[in-house]
Amino acid sequence: MDNIDQLNDYSKFVGFVNERNRPSGGIKTIHKVAVASFLDSTKKILEIGSNTGFTSVNLALMTGCEVVGVDTNDSSIKNAELYAAEQGVETRVKFVNANACELPFPDSSFDLVWCSNVTSFISDKEKAISEYLRVLKPGGVLVVVPIYYITTPPQDVVKRVSSAIGSDITVRDKEGWKKIFFETAVSSGNALELFFEEDFIYHDVSGGIPDYVDMLMSKDNIKSLDSDKRNKVREMAEYFYGLFNENLRYAGYSIILYQKRNALDELELFVSKKKYE
Ligand SMILES: C[S@@+](CC[C@H](N)C(=O)[O-])C[C@H]1O[C@@H](n2cnc3c(N)ncnc32)[C@H](O)[C@@H]1O
Repeated sequence: MDNIDQLNDYSKFVGFVNERNRPSGGIKTIHKVAVASFLDSTKKILEIGSNTGFTSVNLALMTGCEVVGVDTNDSSIKNAELYAAEQGVETRVKFVNANACELPFPDSSFDLVWCSNVTSFISDKEKAISEYLRVLKPGGVLVVVPIYYITTPPQDVVKRVSSAIGSDITVRDKEGWKKIFFETAVSSGNALELFFEEDFIYHDVSGGIPDYVDMLMSKDNIKSLDSDKRNKVREMAEYFYGLFNENLRYAGYSIILYQKRNALDELELFVSKKKYE
């Protein structure tokens, strides 16, 4: 992506500026998942929507595992490869241009499939989720880090975010996301068991947006643009981050881990929940 006039959505923008786009919760989320899933150098991981590579590269750095990241955006893939090489993990972390709905991998290829903030970008969610499950080994872990609404957002915010990410958002709460994953597992003949779940809300970061935009503008690939293009990048960055910050006022995210079960067990009767003081 070299033409700034084609930057009509946020995913393309991220690839163009080479923003180090992270999962919600950043490195802390990666650490929690690595510990809760017993990741080590024997494990093979697939990240869906790997963008500029933050999650894939940091999973490999943290655990020694092998990772394949798939994304549909070429600039993001190129930048992810550069990041992996810069961090010295290019032999263990590969990036492939592939659509989540048609993953180019055989059944049961991965020990863990990671999808954070990507399924909301895909219109045929059931098809994508059944692909995540197809390539996951029985006994493997499906990591879902969805962003969802806790309170009802204004319609105009939803409309502007949909246009910014290039995909229509349906206003869903956490249970709505869990339902889609659970129902798709059942309809694709899989059994999923939830074994880890933690909920978070976002800080209001409006005061931090100017410094964040300045940081992006100071990247070499942006500094070398002519001033009209730089102004356009700044304008888009301010618009996207202001809008996302406004949207996240109504939202939260969760780290949800499922195990793809080998077989359906008998029903469990004495189920429990966390006791809060
Ligand atoms: C907001 S980024 C998410 C990046 C990262 N996973 C995270 O947690 O922040 C969404 C990424 O999903 C990619 N994407 C969108 N639709 C996709 C699809 N059908 N298959 C694979 N990747 C897709 C976009 O190109 C973009 O890089």
